[in-house]
Amino acid sequence: MSDSADTHVPLDLLLSTAVEAARAAGAVLQRFALSGFRVEHKNPINLVTDADYAAEQCVIDHIRRRFPAHHILAEERGSVAQVASRYHWIIDPLDGTTNFAHGFPFYGVSIGIEEDGRGVVGVVYDPAHDELFSAQLGAGAMLNGRSLRVSATSMLDRALLVTGFAYDIRDTPDNNLDHFSRFALKAQGLRRTGSAALDLCYVAAGRFDGFWEVKLNPWDMAAGVVILKEAGGTVTDFSGTGHSIYQPQLVASNGRIHHAMLAVLREQPRP
Ligand code: IPD
Ligand code: CA
Ligand code: CA
Repeated sequence: MSDSADTHVPLDLLLSTAVEAARAAGAVLQRFALSGFRVEHKNPINLVTDADYAAEQCVIDHIRRRFPAHHILAEERGSVAQVASRYHWIIDPLDGTTNFAHGFPFYGVSIGIEEDGRGVVGVVYDPAHDELFSAQLGAGAMLNGRSLRVSATSMLDRALLVTGFAYDIRDTPDNNLDHFSRFALKAQGLRRTGSAALDLCYVAAGRFDGFWEVKLNPWDMAAGVVILKEAGGTVTDFSGTGHSIYQPQLVASNGRIHHAMLAVLREQPRP
């Protein structure tokens, strides 16, 4: 198809390209999981593997073949296209690298697309469980072709929550441990899975009722936020006023427990 930075692209074509790319990159991850990979350290607890780089290249190649003029932001490569475009692809080729490196099968490929600054498509593929979460603005969210809906849980006391920790956990007091300990006493259960993109999809699927993190990056959230909203969920920052994937805080929920979660996040840490 003809392509320039500004050519209008139907959302279903963007979605099908993202699905193809995510499945292909998922297959790359699984090949590395079987054959072995090299691990480098960005810091003592922040890892990157050959599989991250190879999966990222696979996604970029897919996008480039169809839409050479689109802008790409990828975790390991940074900003790829030089020209301005209406379309921004935001990629985490391996969300859950620590899990992957340890052989813990909970990780995924995350691909979000913005059109004129608005999230319009999200795809997260979990290759270990062959689960493909996807959404297109206005068309709902799906898991392997089945429609997704958030849970109806209305009390924190009955809610299963999930969170995560940034790689500077050892270096700063703003490391989420204060929120974690308060939620642990208020929720029915609390998990830390190690993949923010899948955490968002699990809230969309009603498997979790709520999720928060203090310091996420755009590639952790771009796809999952579209999927969660299309499944009827709510996403804000800690003030509850709005949300941008370009700021680090995220509170995501089924909507019903959102205010209760915000109230816990606003409680002052004990002196
Ligand atoms: C990390 C995971 C983790 C979250 C971290 C992220 P990565 O991404 O999503 O669940 O708690 O904040 O950085 O490094 O595995 O792509
Ligand atoms: Ca990530
Ligand atoms: Ca990653």
